[in-house]
Amino acid sequence: MLSLLQFDERSGEPIYRQLYDHIRGEIVSGRLAKGSRIPPTRDLSSQLGLNRTTVKAAYELLEREGLIQTRAGRGSFVAGGEPGSGETFFTARIGGDSLTEASLPPMPEDCVNFTSARPAGDLFPLEEFRAVCAEVIGSGEVERILQLGAPQGYGPLRRRLLEDAVARGEAGADDEVMVTNGCQQGLDLLQRVLTQPGDAVAVEDPIYPGLKSVFQQAGVRVLGVRVGADGMDVEAFEALAKREKLRLVAVTPNFQNPTGATMGEAARRRLLEAARTAGVPVLENDVYGALRYSGEPVKSLKQMDEAGIVIRLNSFSKIAFPGLRVGWVTGRRELIAAMAARKQVTDLHSDQLSQAVLLRFMESGRLEAHVGRMVEAGRKRLEAAVTACGTWLPAGTRVMKPEGGMNLWVSLPEPLDASALLERAFAGGVAYLPARYFAVAGAETDGLRLSFAHLSEERIEEGIGRLGIVLEDELARARAAWREDKSPVIV
Ligand SMILES: Cc1ncc(COP(=O)(O)O)c(C=O)c1O
Repeated sequence: MLSLLQFDERSGEPIYRQLYDHIRGEIVSGRLAKGSRIPPTRDLSSQLGLNRTTVKAAYELLEREGLIQTRAGRGSFVAGGEPGSGETFFTARIGGDSLTEASLPPMPEDCVNFTSARPAGDLFPLEEFRAVCAEVIGSGEVERILQLGAPQGYGPLRRRLLEDAVARGEAGADDEVMVTNGCQQGLDLLQRVLTQPGDAVAVEDPIYPGLKSVFQQAGVRVLGVRVGADGMDVEAFEALAKREKLRLVAVTPNFQNPTGATMGEAARRRLLEAARTAGVPVLENDVYGALRYSGEPVKSLKQMDEAGIVIRLNSFSKIAFPGLRVGWVTGRRELIAAMAARKQVTDLHSDQLSQAVLLRFMESGRLEAHVGRMVEAGRKRLEAAVTACGTWLPAGTRVMKPEGGMNLWVSLPEPLDASALLERAFAGGVAYLPARYFAVAGAETDGLRLSFAHLSEERIEEGIGRLGIVLEDELARARAAWREDKSPVIV
């Protein structure tokens, strides 16, 4: 159809506009069907003998009107409908790169779900929580709680968090605390305050996808540094910091997500020194730090920081209730002031009832008792997961046993591919996340994460048993295919 197009050079209407009118007519009349692919600009320009910029200008106009949609790497497609129709009105206007959720295969009922790093709902002390809520609502503070607050957070909680940080040597005279909507908002605010599009930040590879996305969606280059059993490879970071002007290095020194790795004290000191020399701020994400099941605690980066370059992120999400969305940032006063200003623009301030409830939960000693129970349960659940991996997963499987946290990193023997097997595992009643969800550069095909903390020991055993069946089945298939290869026809 498009090749039949005749342009009127004398009409006074620019060619791109004529092309736009023509394609628009084809779409609106239905001759070009919804979802059909329209030719790439390069092809159409040579087909019509036009400059490619002319074709691009027509396509841009069509896209602005919601008539076509361009999908990165796939080309342009007819969105369909009149301009302004419900279906296309917003798709044409949504700017920036689309952020799609990590898509997972459909999960059958009774699937043992190892995909989510979250606390155990069965351990939530519901009666205590109800009591705390009643205490807060019944207190004289309630009027203040219900009133508008400050972007830095609910004052009494902030003060308590700062006092605790000072007592642990994690805050000095120049430091402040601000409360955020979970640790995730802390990451987002830091991105806004410290980086510009085109800047580079260093992160662990593999990494928690929520951290990677925060920077990528803002046009910041995310550079991965390999994580081994001892956490981030500091030598690789040193080399990177010499090559690139980094705006930030983000690390999760305790029980890293997804590998579970913990950095030793020497590695932490070396990282700090390298960052200080290169003038790079260090973001210490310690959301899992309180969940230690074995080994000795290691000093935090913030405790070792003499240069004042460490920003510490924490959260109640992993130690208490992720649904309340309360996290906090500890860092230099001027940085916190800049973050608070951005937070005010974003959401004014965080919900004060959640903050007041968590403060009361802390002050009454209930949080400490709850964390104690979580650690006890987590230790048993981790043990159950490691034992089940040894019992049910194929010979040659490697398991990186963490000293705490919620995640167990498993490397499958060759030729098993954790990503390719995902759908079969789901169908077999067990769900995990393969390495590709966490990769910054290329993912290893053998890696997968099992988040165990929210599941009972029985469910963990059952789930890993199911995984073992899927993997053994695949190995048997691979061996049979290999035998066939080895017996070529004799001619
Ligand atoms: C390493 C890491 N950082 C941040 C978050 C987000 O935490 P929050 O719920 O406090 O926003 C998570 C959640 O899984 C995480 O694993």
